Amino acid sequence: MFQYSDKVMDHFTNPRNVGELDDPDGVGRVGNPSCGDIMEFQIKVNDDHVTDVKFRTFGCGAAIAVSSMVSEMAKGKTLDEAMNITNKMVADELEGLPKNKLHCSNLGADALHKAIEDYRAKHSEVSDKG
Ligand code: FES
Repeated sequence: MFQYSDKVMDHFTNPRNVGELDDPDGVGRVGNPSCGDIMEFQIKVNDDHVTDVKFRTFGCGAAIAVSSMVSEMAKGKTLDEAMNITNKMVADELEGLPKNKLHCSNLGADALHKAIEDYRAKHSEVSDKG
């Protein structure tokens, strides 16, 4: 039987950055078609950097560990760097996931990227004027 890595167990039992932000700059929500679970990321952006991240995941333990890991990976990165975080990078950072749980890692980076896209869409008018 596959054992979850210590890192997965750590992020599952003690997830970082759970919750909601006051007045987030970008929100991204994705659903996993294979199981119906939902993940939502909220970000704060300052000077083109992700300065804060919070997530809420209505999903399995692997999805919660993935969300927690993504939130840690994204914090402090530029928006472009955060856009370059892939689902595979997240799974690798968690030291692997069982094969039948790999689909759970597909939500993490996608939800983050959606939050960044949401931020960019909301702020494109402002930067167009400037
Ligand atoms: Fe749905 Fe893992 S079983 S995200």
